[in-house]
Amino acid sequence: MSGAQGVELTVTSDVGRIDREKVLGYLQGESYWARGRRSEDILRTLETSLCFSILLGDEFVGFARVITDQVTFNYLCDFFILPEHQNKGFGTQALRTIISDDRLSRGMWILFTKTAHEFYRRLGFVQDDGFFTRVMVKHRPE
Ligand SMILES: CC(C)(COP(=O)(O)OP(=O)(O)OC[C@H]1O[C@@H](n2cnc3c(N)ncnc32)[C@H](O)[C@@H]1OP(=O)(O)O)[C@@H](O)C(=O)NCCC(=O)NCCS
Repeated sequence: MSGAQGVELTVTSDVGRIDREKVLGYLQGESYWARGRRSEDILRTLETSLCFSILLGDEFVGFARVITDQVTFNYLCDFFILPEHQNKGFGTQALRTIISDDRLSRGMWILFTKTAHEFYRRLGFVQDDGFFTRVMVKHRPE
């Protein structure tokens, strides 16, 4: 997919392409879900998850992290497009690429969202009340 100036959108799991400063800046400064997460903890999750950098040309414009066993289960988290690049179709294009990645195409997907249900619905995600009666949660220690 091309951006406004015809620049290509690339979605890559090459860890060398992760812009750690931008990931820390967005998650701690702008996200509604990870503001209190410590830098060393965020950096650790970059090592232990399958991470995708979303690039417009050479510019880092977004990020997604998948916790996965690459067979049965994929948990999408810390997914964002930087504010100045939102609503241009990049999130849709990036997520479409990620969910069809060979390593992730066999397992079920799960995610949590406060506001973006419609965005995910268009990509095949559903709010499944039947399934959620089976889900149990053990919260993190304080
Ligand atoms: C959610 C997000 C990743 C979508 O990426 P994007 O590149 O902006 O999305 P696209 O341009 O591909 O799609 C835009 C469409 O999704 C809708 N959408 C995007 N974010 C939304 C949100 N938080 N709530 C409701 N709708 C949303 C837009 O209204 C738009 O709909 P339209 O086509 O009818 O105008 C991005 O907006 C973002 O980073 N938001 C802030 C962080 C966030 O909420 N992350 C997800 C946490 S689960």
